[in-house]
Amino acid sequence: MCGVMTTAVQKAPRITLDDAVECAAELYDLRVSASTLPSERDQNFLLRTASGDQFVLKIANSEEAIDFLQLQNQLIRFLTTARVDLEFPELIPTKTGEDIAAITTADSQKHFVRLLTWLDGVCFAEINHPDRKLLASLGRALAQMDAALDGFSHQAAHRDFLWDLRNTAARDLSGLLPDDRRRLVERFFAEWEKVDWGSLRFSIIHNDANDYNILVNEPEHRVKAIIDYGDVVHSATICNLAVALAYVMLDKPDGSASVSLAAGGPPAYPTDPIGAAAQVVTAYHETYPLTEAEVDSLYTLAVTRLCFSVCIAARQTRDVPDNEYLNISNAPAWSLLERLQSIPFDWPTRVFRYACGMPVVKAQTLRPRRTAAELLTARQKHLGPSLSVSYESPLHIVSGSRQNLFDAGGQRYLDCVNNVAHVGHSHPRVVRAGTEQMAILNTNTRYLHEYLIEYSERLSAMLPEPLRVVYLVNSGSEANELALRLARAHTNRTETIVIDCAYHGNTSAMIDLSPYKFDGPGGHGCPAWVHKVPLPDVYRGEHRGDNAGTEYARTVSSAVKLAERNGGVAAFFCESAVSCGGQIILPSGYLRAAFAAVRSAGGVCVADEVQTGFGRAGTHFWMFETQDVVPDIVTLGKPIGNGHPLGAVITSPEIAASFANGMEYFNTFGGNPVSCVTGLAVLDVIRDEELQQNALGVGDFLKRELRLLQDRHRLLGDVRGLGLFLGIELVRDRDTLEPARREATQIVERMKERGILLSTDGPFHNVIKIKPPLVFSMKDAEVLVSNLDSVLRR
Ligand SMILES: Cc1ncc(COP(=O)(O)O)c(C=O)c1O
Repeated sequence: MCGVMTTAVQKAPRITLDDAVECAAELYDLRVSASTLPSERDQNFLLRTASGDQFVLKIANSEEAIDFLQLQNQLIRFLTTARVDLEFPELIPTKTGEDIAAITTADSQKHFVRLLTWLDGVCFAEINHPDRKLLASLGRALAQMDAALDGFSHQAAHRDFLWDLRNTAARDLSGLLPDDRRRLVERFFAEWEKVDWGSLRFSIIHNDANDYNILVNEPEHRVKAIIDYGDVVHSATICNLAVALAYVMLDKPDGSASVSLAAGGPPAYPTDPIGAAAQVVTAYHETYPLTEAEVDSLYTLAVTRLCFSVCIAARQTRDVPDNEYLNISNAPAWSLLERLQSIPFDWPTRVFRYACGMPVVKAQTLRPRRTAAELLTARQKHLGPSLSVSYESPLHIVSGSRQNLFDAGGQRYLDCVNNVAHVGHSHPRVVRAGTEQMAILNTNTRYLHEYLIEYSERLSAMLPEPLRVVYLVNSGSEANELALRLARAHTNRTETIVIDCAYHGNTSAMIDLSPYKFDGPGGHGCPAWVHKVPLPDVYRGEHRGDNAGTEYARTVSSAVKLAERNGGVAAFFCESAVSCGGQIILPSGYLRAAFAAVRSAGGVCVADEVQTGFGRAGTHFWMFETQDVVPDIVTLGKPIGNGHPLGAVITSPEIAASFANGMEYFNTFGGNPVSCVTGLAVLDVIRDEELQQNALGVGDFLKRELRLLQDRHRLLGDVRGLGLFLGIELVRDRDTLEPARREATQIVERMKERGILLSTDGPFHNVIKIKPPLVFSMKDAEVLVSNLDSVLRR
């Protein structure tokens, strides 16, 4: 143990360097040079042979029982052979074959001696800002170790130990602290009193994954070892993670208070203590699932570890009053405790619950007042019958967290389809940003407000030039409606080109622009001012080869010519990948040639990114970028507010000037401070949690796995997509491409029974769409594919 907060209490042995060298020679037949290593209770020496081999000589304090050292040795051997992706030191026996030797010092004290190989690596404490990859690696390492140790037992671990977080002895030392500091730790200890130990799992734990005991393989950015087994104890398993989190939280500038006002400032996450800890928790939970009771006590126990450290150090200060070093070494713990004091106590637990995909608010507070059947009846009475519900037996969803939805009975569903909850259902940072602002002010754009400007600056900076003018609205439909007005104002024309099967919104004008609606049940057919061009579908459409992009773009040129007869084209509306059309990825070169044809006739090009924007494509932040074009107008919705009603239109100053004809554009809710701060939080989370990168990695993996599945199941005619925007087209015959609509619906229903939510789309409703929250993990992808495989086998 050598952490800054775990300073000596008992007297360590007093062996000189010469003694250590002699010991190595006599006991182990090794000629070495020696240097001291820090240790709280024992004495450790680093030994080097002339050939460069390195060892740690461990001299136990005279009170150490041999069975506790035997426990440590057995534990090391056990973990070495367990399925744990970590390195462990090798135990070197003495010349006479003993794992534990004994020496007697000049003061007649007997000490047990062990020799271990030295593990190279950089201490976690020395890494300035551990990034997400390293934090996740730590979570996985701890989880693997805890999972393995669940199968290990040893009587010596059942001991009364000061650093066991159940022990009240450390708390009793708080009286040694100055009044203000004692009050601070006692507030935290009051929370510790509430821990329901009976609800927690118990096992043997390492119990000291402090940042000096964690070794990192720097080039690979991964935790390679967790060393020093001197604090091993049988306790609540969660304490092991709690101890590690106490150190992960140290020295992090606090960025958790919703949103940084400085545009382009340093990332607030994971440099805030709770955000950094959450990264570890997510990876731990994915590897070795935590129970709700464990997650609910985790923050309390992590803070308890900090409190233990300062209390135990206070005893040391009392015993060695002139040890200045102690005050200095405890400074980071104190400053963290002071910082944590200013955070609402339930906030970290909400973040950790979210990190594990558990309902952020506890289930018992969400008890539904009506049954699903009652809700359905009341719905039929009071809601318009044109509203639909999903699934044969509709779901009564009461909460969401990350990529999970939970129904009234507590059943969890893996959400593979809700792209609105882009950064995860109920993301605490987004929720907190919006609710805090709601408590301060929510009004309209006729007042000056920092968030309106900051958000417009941040959003427009994410788009290419000349897209710099932002209009904030409340939905995707409103965004497209405004885009149409902008295009008409700029061109003084009305003729508009759309793609077959497209959907652009629910307002009158947008229904006119949506073949998905006007050609469907109850539809009025294509209005005279609208020109429909074929869906550029390379699987089922007319053009399928390498030149499909240019060939389909020719249909846009033809539509442009037709529009000339009625005064010319005003706009070409195109989703950058067609969602309702069946998750269609536009063929290469399509938008480039189509935009050129529209622009050469004086029209403007509108990219509807309502479904596709904000990193879903994986390789690019905006789907239109995959086509190497810059639209004249971009419309945004759905993911932009992570469920908060928000939409945006971004255009060039030139088009915005044409629209400023004297008539005010007023939007009661568009651009209100709550919406803006929510939108900012979404951008922060996408950046800080590297969600675009996740969409790329997980999306590529999922597409590959689905294509392997396609080899086994002929029903899967096509697997297509980019990032986490994927579609599986089901056909009864791979030659005729007869759509398998009924089968697609059945599969969706059967997957729902297995707790996996999907839905269908496309002109024949035979395309299963996959567009989950971007926190979707590799493991989720595996779960999705293996269940789909089972359902397809039946
Ligand atoms: C591509 C596209 N554009 C616009 C809209 C309309 O958005 P909203 O429902 O937020 O009005 C949708 C909705 O599904 C859409 O898919």
